[in-house]
Amino acid sequence: MIAIVSIVLLSLTAVQIYWVRNAISIERINFENKVNSSAKEVVYKLEKIKTYNTLSQSNQTRNRFINYLSTIDSISLALSDDVDSIKTTADMRRLLQKSNLAQEIITGMIDDKQPFQIERHLNMQILDSLLRHELEVHNITSDYAYGVYSSGKGQMIYESTDKYKTELLKQGFVFTLYPYEFSPKPDYLMIYFPYEMRFLLKQMAGIVLISLLLILIIIMLFIYIIKIIVWQRRLSELKNDFINNMTHEIKTPISTISLASEALRDDTIKRNEQLVNNYLKVINDENNRLAGIAEKILQAAIIENENFSFNREKVNLHEIINLIINNLIIQVEVKDGTLTFDKGADRPVVSGDKMHLTNAIANLIENANKYSPRKPRIRLTTENYSEGVKVCVTDTGMGISTENQKKIFDKLYRVPTGNLHDVKGFGLGLSYVKTIIELHGGQVTVESELNKGSRFCVYIPFSSKKKPISPQQ
Ligand SMILES: Nc1ncnc2c1ncn2[C@@H]1O[C@H](COP(=O)(O)OP(=O)(O)OP(=O)(O)O)[C@@H](O)[C@H]1O
Ligand SMILES: [Mg+2]
Repeated sequence: MIAIVSIVLLSLTAVQIYWVRNAISIERINFENKVNSSAKEVVYKLEKIKTYNTLSQSNQTRNRFINYLSTIDSISLALSDDVDSIKTTADMRRLLQKSNLAQEIITGMIDDKQPFQIERHLNMQILDSLLRHELEVHNITSDYAYGVYSSGKGQMIYESTDKYKTELLKQGFVFTLYPYEFSPKPDYLMIYFPYEMRFLLKQMAGIVLISLLLILIIIMLFIYIIKIIVWQRRLSELKNDFINNMTHEIKTPISTISLASEALRDDTIKRNEQLVNNYLKVINDENNRLAGIAEKILQAAIIENENFSFNREKVNLHEIINLIINNLIIQVEVKDGTLTFDKGADRPVVSGDKMHLTNAIANLIENANKYSPRKPRIRLTTENYSEGVKVCVTDTGMGISTENQKKIFDKLYRVPTGNLHDVKGFGLGLSYVKTIIELHGGQVTVESELNKGSRFCVYIPFSSKKKPISPQQ
């Protein structure tokens, strides 16, 4: 499922990216069209201005032409006067020289027309305001740089800024200036938009953002669903384990009790009081074991109950620990173990629920005993803090790996031991301890090293300020 959804998600993302890219290229064409029409408009207006100027100049040209004519007139008048006075060949030669000179003057006057020169026609301020106006009219608000390139000179003859010299030449939009001028080497207007991509994206920010957001939401939902699935699977595995464990735990005492009671019906046994008492003791012990199992499961069930409430009273932790020790010492001694208690705290009284605190601390001591394969060496200590008491249970047992230390407080979690279940349990104890201690406003900590031992500590404040109403799940 993860693979399929991942593929679908990837394809969806790819399709989205494809569409967004498409949209961007359409937007770019649109942008280019706008720039083209703005520039065309500028070029057209510049041409118009030039034509207007030329026309107004032609008036002056006409006046100048009249001047030529009168100059020619006066020259020819002077020359014709001179013709009359020719007497010698030297006079003739002088006259010829003079007329050559006159001709040169006239040619000079008429040849005044020079080739088209852009600098003479293009006013940069006009170009600047025209360009700004046209881009504005076409809704292009992105920053730009522009310049005029003369192919005759082979270089830029004007630049609005020298920041984008190469970009202007390589990536700029290019338009021919004065296209109607019959010049073999035209001049070009170049415009470069350094933030073109940003401008395009800004235009499409809405679509892009929504696409990204949707994809993000889907990915997050997907991760969330996967997490739930994994969690559910683990939960169902844990539940199976729990049921197996419980069946196993209950089956032995039940069959023992049933065998013992059957034996008690036997007449020969009935007559032997010693045997009867033995069987009754077996039945009683097994019954206690069943009661213990039921109690443990009930503990877990009780704290899940919505109407769960505390009986707050003054609890002397030293007293309840002594009671627990009395009950559990036999189990420890059976394994040839020792149990010591250091009453380090001067103020061992806290406000809390006696029954639940007793159960919680008992769970820790039970664990210390259960998970010490050889000769348990259990040390109990209490210590005062300014606001509460810390009770620690230290053992020299099998220890817990760092990875498992995080999980042991989860309900039903037991450190996996392969198929070997030599130590019985449901994985309920520590989750119960954690819930109860936290409901008292305290906290549980664990320090442990594999094969060296563990130390579980509970810190219980003298009185918790927040009044717990219902437990966390
Ligand atoms: N003192 C300890 N030393 C080593 N491992 C421990 C110790 N205490 C707990 N553990 C590990 O943490 C797991 C969870 O403990 P927890 O008390 O919640 O469950 P349990 O002892 O298996 O069953 P239950 O307490 O419900 O009968 C245990 O299965 C065990 O692997
Ligand atoms: Mg336990």
